[in-house]
Amino acid sequence: MNTAHELFVDELHDIYNAEQRILGVLQQGEQEIQRSDLKKAFTRHRRQTEGQVKRLDAIFESLDEEPREKTCEGLEGLVREKESMQEEQPSPEIADLNSLVSALKVERYEISAYEVLIFLAQQMKHREAARLLKETLKEEQETAKLLLELCKSTDIDWEAGREEAETHRSAANSRTRSRRAA
Ligand SMILES: [Fe+2]
Ligand SMILES: [Fe+2]
Repeated sequence: MNTAHELFVDELHDIYNAEQRILGVLQQGEQEIQRSDLKKAFTRHRRQTEGQVKRLDAIFESLDEEPREKTCEGLEGLVREKESMQEEQPSPEIADLNSLVSALKVERYEISAYEVLIFLAQQMKHREAARLLKETLKEEQETAKLLLELCKSTDIDWEAGREEAETHRSAANSRTRSRRAA
């Protein structure tokens, strides 16, 4: 790879495959999630993601390129992290929270990817591509914001979490004290 154009196209392949993978993850999320407002948020973003794929198709066409298979390793890592947590047999509330925080991490990843793509498109004066990419970036940013709000409104027993944390803190404190006394 020798040119910024090649890097741009490579990054496009990467996000194209990431978006396809995200479609599947969102579909799975819609099935797994218990709360209806969370389910709705996932459905809404799945529809947006379908539009994002179409924008990428248009960009490929304008560059006379075809999207090709390429695993987006960054996204795969995030998906694996989410799945390993779901294997810990979480309660339904914790499973929902895990789905939300994992989705939030994915949005942040996409935001970084689109910021890079917009930068590259602007450098090479791909004005139409930059415009389309900015539309997608806006959707990702709005989704990240919404997900964070939804995290705060989950039916989590935060009080139980705080009590457990307090038990651990005092156990750690008394261990430190007895170590100092010894
Ligand atoms: Fe996306
Ligand atoms: Fe997204």
